Amino acid sequence: MTPLIHIDDLHFQYLQNQTKKTWILDGINLDVNEGEFIAILGPNGCGKSTLAKHFNALLLPSDGKVLINGMDTQNRKNLLTIRQTIGMIFQNPDNQIISTIVEEDVAFAPENLGLDQTEIRRRVDEALEAVGMIEYRHHTPFKLSGGQKQRVAIAGILAMRPKCLVLDEPTSMLDPKGRADVIRTIKHLNRQFGITVVLITHNMDEAAQAKRVILLEQGKVIRDNPPQEVFTEISLLEKLHLSVPQVTELCVKLRNRGISVPDQIIDVEACTRSIIAALEEENARR
Ligand SMILES: Nc1ncnc2c1ncn2[C@@H]1O[C@H](COP(=O)(O)OP(=O)(O)OP(=O)(O)O)[C@@H](O)[C@H]1O
Ligand SMILES: [Mg+2]
Repeated sequence: MTPLIHIDDLHFQYLQNQTKKTWILDGINLDVNEGEFIAILGPNGCGKSTLAKHFNALLLPSDGKVLINGMDTQNRKNLLTIRQTIGMIFQNPDNQIISTIVEEDVAFAPENLGLDQTEIRRRVDEALEAVGMIEYRHHTPFKLSGGQKQRVAIAGILAMRPKCLVLDEPTSMLDPKGRADVIRTIKHLNRQFGITVVLITHNMDEAAQAKRVILLEQGKVIRDNPPQEVFTEISLLEKLHLSVPQVTELCVKLRNRGISVPDQIIDVEACTRSIIAALEEENARR
């Protein structure tokens, strides 16, 4: 099966024709299959956003190849199809709003695709339904909360029927409720509709929701593993000034105090179960 995203020895530098090769992306190899939910982590400036912009040809490789559904991003003929295949969501929802009415905002992309009115209507309703914002369709986006705006922005991308959503720190400007709503929406789109998700985040609790975590350091992929494995490498994460999910941190503290909870805990339910089990064991011993 052709991977949805295939990256082969990608090298990139912003300033072309430099004699000294200082690679921002330094030999990235990565395959993402349709239906996956991956998170990309790494310290500030390690190249996450630069990499994301290669996924829909906002940036082109200085060397190496990026293929989207087998289409080379360097070939201009593929540009429109690639941009319809991979939808991008950025940090600031305000920058992604185009219209003064929610449904008109979501209709913007399908209108540009030249679709007929019935098809546009259907896509707008489906997209707003999918992100849980249908009841706001006649509202003005400017009065919505950050999380609601971000979900409208996601609906605008969904109306193009992309195979993949690439989200570059989509929750970093949101309050906790907005964050939770956006992450719940992303998971729903992945599970319910099989939309591939690439989530760039500094929030480890969000990254723990993914099935696979890619860790970048200075333009190189240094880990590509399930989150349970990446988050046990605490000294590596500390070296990169990254944290771990809150429950993982709690389990580490408990283990340091001699309470036997397993490592590789990244979600609240598993953490709760293991603490209860440890307490029961402790009681039985007394
Ligand atoms: N337009 C640009 N021109 C020149 N250099 C750039 C440009 N954009 C980013 N860079 C540099 O490229 C490197 C990688 O930046 P990038 O934004 O991809 O990192 P990041 O991992 O997304 O960081 P953050 O976590 O802060 O968002 C940084 O050193 C940055 O200064
Ligand atoms: Mg960035």
